[in-house]
Formats: sequence, structure tokens, C-alpha cells
Amino acid sequence: MYDHLLGGTDNYQVDRTACEELLRLAPSTRELARVNRAFLVRAVRYLARRHGVRRFLDHGSGLPTRPNVHEVAQEVDPSSEIVYIDNDPIVLGRGRMMLAEDPDTTAILNADMRDIDIIFESEEVGRLLRDGCPVAALFVSVLHCIPDDDDPWALVNRVAEMLPSGSYMVISHLASDDPELRKSLTQFMGEATGGHWGRVRSIAEVQRLFEHMEVMETEGPVEVSRWLPDSDLAPRQGSAEWIEYGAVARIR
Ligand SMILES: C[S@@+](CC[C@H](N)C(=O)[O-])C[C@H]1O[C@@H](n2cnc3c(N)ncnc32)[C@H](O)[C@@H]1O
Repeated sequence: MYDHLLGGTDNYQVDRTACEELLRLAPSTRELARVNRAFLVRAVRYLARRHGVRRFLDHGSGLPTRPNVHEVAQEVDPSSEIVYIDNDPIVLGRGRMMLAEDPDTTAILNADMRDIDIIFESEEVGRLLRDGCPVAALFVSVLHCIPDDDDPWALVNRVAEMLPSGSYMVISHLASDDPELRKSLTQFMGEATGGHWGRVRSIAEVQRLFEHMEVMETEGPVEVSRWLPDSDLAPRQGSAEWIEYGAVARIR
């Protein structure tokens, strides 16, 4: 669905039909997908250029979408290393060709992001952490896929603890402060994904993800098109049914 909303071609009729229904429920969703992807690109470029980050751990990488994380990071330094993680067989199939182009610098791991021990014991992540260089962990538009029972807040904090000191997090999360919209959009996404989904959360709930972090460049998390906007895509105007809320942060 996300691929279709971004104008990609790696999707099926069932995804396109679900998107049509979703756009009836929340017409701003196509723009939401675009600003989210633009945020991810800005965040990676910012960390690579301004903070010298050369290691990226991308949770829930999604289907290859140009520019991919490694393309953005390697534009700054071709030796930048990226480990992509996803548990969707279609993403993994397409990703092996396009995301893991160069085995010396990129890898794609078939894992559920909740299996932190498996992820951190893997050869790929071990290599990324080998000499204690700071890592940027990306959780971009993925934590709403995690139900409350699996505690996305604890997940983020545990990953933060396992990263070298001076590491970063990039987080965006679907959010709304309208309880009715939260309910109807959560129900829709739950049905569209066969129950593999979590919840649209309130702004305060997303803010809690950043409790142990220092947000960079803004006072706190924001609607992501307002996080260090550049000339590529203007901040969103007007009202929206739901937003991607988040920021780039340094782990304390
Ligand atoms: C909306 S896409 C986001 C893609 C990318 N991060 C972005 O923002 O452009 C969500 C991705 O998360 C993946 N995903 C969802 N739950 C996951 C889980 N528990 N473990 C690993 N990947 C997961 C999905 O397969 C999908 O590729």
C-alpha cells in the first residue's frame, strides 16, 4: 500500500483497492506517505553530513524506493554501511536485489524487529557494531505496526541501550489526537493487513518514545515535514486526518 501511495509499481490490485478505500477515509494519506519518505531522506542526509554518521540500522525498510537509505548515505561517504531489516517476504525478495547491492556495505536481514536478541546476535549487525562507531537506528513509519502488548516504547529503549554511545534514532509514527479517527483508521489498517498491525497513537504517546533522547534541531518531535524542512518539499499546510509525527534524536 505504501509503495502504491508513493507512486511505485511493486504492488498488487488488492493493495491498490485498499488504498482507494483508505484515501476515502483519510484523503491526506498520499501526501502523508510522501512527506514521511522525504523526512527519512532528510534525516539520513543530515546525520551523514552534519554528524558524520556512517552506520545505519533501518528497521522496517519497506520496498526499495529511490533514493534508498544506502544511496543517500553513500552519496556523502561511499563506505557508509547499512543493515536493512524487514519481515515481509516481498520486501525481502525485492530488497536482496536493490537494497543489498554491495555486500561489503549493505545487507538485508530477514527478522521481526521485535526479536532484538536475534537481530543483535546476527553477523550483519555484529559487523555494524564492530568498533563502537555511532549508529543511527531508523524506526520510520513502522512502530505503529507494533501492538501495545509488544510495547514499542520498551523496544525503542532496549535498542537504544544496545547501540554504541553517541548513537542516534530516527523515528516517525502515525498519530492523531482525534479518538474517533484513531479508532477507525486503526480498524481499517488492522483489516487491510490481516491483523499484522498495531495502532494509530496520540501525539503524547509518540512523544513518550523520545523520553530518553535529545531531539535534534526542533524543541521536540513534530509533524515530520516540519523537521528541518528543505527546498525539496514544503511543510504540510492545512488539516490532515492523521500525521507522521517524529524527529531525529541523540540517545542520552
Ligand atoms: C510503511 S513501511 C515503511 C518503510 C520505510 N521505513 C519508510 O518509512 O519509507 C513499513 C515496513 O515495516 C515492515 N514491518 C512491519 N512490521 C514489522 C516487523 N514486526 N518487523 C520487521 N519489519 C516490519 C513492513 O514489512 C514494511 O516494509
